Amino acid sequence: MNFKEEIIALLAKETKLAEEDLANLLAVPSDPKLGDYAFPCFRLGKNAKEEAEKMKGKLKLPHFVAKAEVAGPYLNFFLKNKVVVEETLSHIYQEQKEFGKQNLGKGKKIIVEFSSPNIAKPFGIGHLRSTVIGSSLYKVYRALGYDVFGVNHLGDWGTQFGKLIVAYRKWGSEDELQQEPIKYLLHLYVKFHQEAEKDKSLEDEARAEFKRLEDGDKESIVLWEKFKGLSLREFQRIYKILDVNFDSLHGEGFYNNLLESSIKELQQKVKTALSDGALIVDLEKYNMPPFMLRKSDGASTYHTRDLAAALYRLKKYRPEKVMYVVGSEQKLHFQQLFKVLELAGFDKDKFIHVDFGLFRFPEGKMSTRKGQVIFLEEVLDRAIDLAEKIIEEKNPTLQNKAEVAVMVGVGAIIFADLSNDRIRDIDFDWNRMLSFEGETAPYLQYTHARACSILRKAVKEHQLGVSPHVNFELFTQAEEMAVVKRLYAYPEMIEKVALANKPHHLAHYLIALAQAFNEFYHQCLVLSDDKNQTKARLLLVDCVRQVLENGLNLLGIQAPEEM
Ligand code: ARG
Repeated sequence: MNFKEEIIALLAKETKLAEEDLANLLAVPSDPKLGDYAFPCFRLGKNAKEEAEKMKGKLKLPHFVAKAEVAGPYLNFFLKNKVVVEETLSHIYQEQKEFGKQNLGKGKKIIVEFSSPNIAKPFGIGHLRSTVIGSSLYKVYRALGYDVFGVNHLGDWGTQFGKLIVAYRKWGSEDELQQEPIKYLLHLYVKFHQEAEKDKSLEDEARAEFKRLEDGDKESIVLWEKFKGLSLREFQRIYKILDVNFDSLHGEGFYNNLLESSIKELQQKVKTALSDGALIVDLEKYNMPPFMLRKSDGASTYHTRDLAAALYRLKKYRPEKVMYVVGSEQKLHFQQLFKVLELAGFDKDKFIHVDFGLFRFPEGKMSTRKGQVIFLEEVLDRAIDLAEKIIEEKNPTLQNKAEVAVMVGVGAIIFADLSNDRIRDIDFDWNRMLSFEGETAPYLQYTHARACSILRKAVKEHQLGVSPHVNFELFTQAEEMAVVKRLYAYPEMIEKVALANKPHHLAHYLIALAQAFNEFYHQCLVLSDDKNQTKARLLLVDCVRQVLENGLNLLGIQAPEEM
């Protein structure tokens, strides 16, 4: 049912332009009066208007095109409403939750690395961004048929663990640790930095301690594993609330015994150098600081562990692409890593840094070292509480209030993130985010619930369920067609998200769909005495319900049936 592709195939025959070029040229006019697709004729000859006329004379229009008209240099195609409606609604009705899925990615493996919080530290807002963006991309690529592998590259290795072990040995208490592990570990981390101000030798002790960890010292490993296990337990709570899953939890520490072999492998292809006792790859030629493989004391670095992870993944999974969903502040790190991999002979287009800007809270910027952090769970709890209050006000008799409050509160936060182009910074605004109007998840969820309630009422008061056997000639209103055309565009929208790894395209699409639906709902009576028209409109309502649900789910948001 891909009208666009069929028009492209038709034009390819007549113009000698490649299908790919045509796909880029053929646009959807912003004014529906100009038809469904506009083909600019500039590339056909000097006088585009004349070329458009010539083309119009030549083309044998397919059955689904009502007419083609010349408007200046464009040839505009108008689809037959009945065909578009029938094709679109029948597909959605048949495919239900599967609607929108494709097999573009069949047989192709993609690794999406996302979330990757640091053990023994609170789950930060940057990690929330990585989690929701990554999880959505994971779902989008799945929907496109890719074999997706999601990795949580836990930050569970590095000098900070030397610091923690030193601090725990000096000042730690098992009891306090067990009570509130992350808060307590954070407290130790802060204390370490306070004490290190006074006593510089602590930093050396921490370095030595990390070295012991890297060398596999049993006692150090036991402590590290304890910290890791306790932290993970807290992170899992957050993943559960967000309904996020991973295929692998291999963090930085996992690569510890692959570091030396990875360095050796790299050295076979890339020149390394010693600089003040440290082993580096000089990247000066590329205007970048050196990539450090080994510190002068022999310890590994963030670079080494990322190199080992990349080599491991390439060998083990043979992915088409490896995507790193990590904040923009690490841009340089990934430029260095990708350059080194390129120098080692890997295709540089395999690696993608899916970067994103800052999420700023009204409370201000925070520093972990000073112990100023916003606990993500507090943010989620607050959103859920606020959602509960709003529901209490608007729909006090709702059955499963607590459950819906979680869907709405968490959804609001996810959408506040994903509705923005990821590279932009976002200023967090509690009121705007939870509003039932404007570009918010509650608005989409409410629209979905409204569709569900119309369908329930149809059964109860009119004894009418949803059926695909309707008279498709009955969709004559502009508001109806506007909704249908949005629905028709859904599968293409998923592709668009993957093309730039930007879920906000889908978020904006869903808002536009909800707006078109609400417009329709206000202009066109759904449940009327005209049974045939009621049946036709119910099918449309059901399709909107389904596409809102499918789209929200790809963003990681639930769609309650009542709220
Ligand atoms: N744990 C890191 C941090 O919080 C993010 C890890 C990003 N991924 C990577 N492969 N380096 O800064």
